[in-house]
Amino acid sequence: MPLHAPLLAPSLLASDFTRLGDEIRQAEAAGADWLHVDVMDGHFVPNITFGPGVVAACRRVTQLPLDVHLMIEQPERLLAEFASAGASRLIVHVETCPHLHRTLQHIRELGCRVGVTLNPGTPASLLLPVLHLVDQVLVMSVNPGFGGQEFLPETLSKASEVRRALDEINPAALVEMDGGLSAETAPLARRAGVEVFVAGTSIFKHPQGIAGGLRALRQAVS
Ligand code: DX5
Ligand code: ZN
Repeated sequence: MPLHAPLLAPSLLASDFTRLGDEIRQAEAAGADWLHVDVMDGHFVPNITFGPGVVAACRRVTQLPLDVHLMIEQPERLLAEFASAGASRLIVHVETCPHLHRTLQHIRELGCRVGVTLNPGTPASLLLPVLHLVDQVLVMSVNPGFGGQEFLPETLSKASEVRRALDEINPAALVEMDGGLSAETAPLARRAGVEVFVAGTSIFKHPQGIAGGLRALRQAVS
């Protein structure tokens, strides 16, 4: 089955937080398709970032879809807050959801697009029972918690495995990848079946600025 057209989702984790609104506007003007917001709780991952208040602040400055990646324990406790803050898409980790069907159905009921993700060490087969419920599967290509980490090439075959399984069960759902993606690694991901490219460092810290970073990534995956 042909892949969906590539979508670029700059990760705000690598932005300059003192100028967040301005950086979002620059990313939007330079053709970002979505904005990726990394929510970390200091428990599931060893770092703390944003809560619903920051998502609401992002919502006030852009119409772009906000792709909210919940790296938090017991995510179901905060789904409604993130939805009312303006999240467009909510992604939960399979490792944090003992009642995964219920959690994914809750996201749907809140009016958000439904995403599920898994750490590099978690097998794709754990997602098979819920693939019919999702709009996207995020394949982590680093262990979550920090930006600027090195891409793990062994996650490429997992992306292909997920794309093949979705082609059977839910072809409209998207395969997304997150972590260490750059103009060098993103083409490998594209060949493996990735359709949504999350990138922090290679966009926000690009020597030619945010527009330069987006341009380089766009060329690399086209
Ligand atoms: C990692 C986050 C990523 C991160 C990617 O835990 O989920 O979204 O921001 O950053 P880069 O592109 O710098 O690897
Ligand atoms: Zn992320």
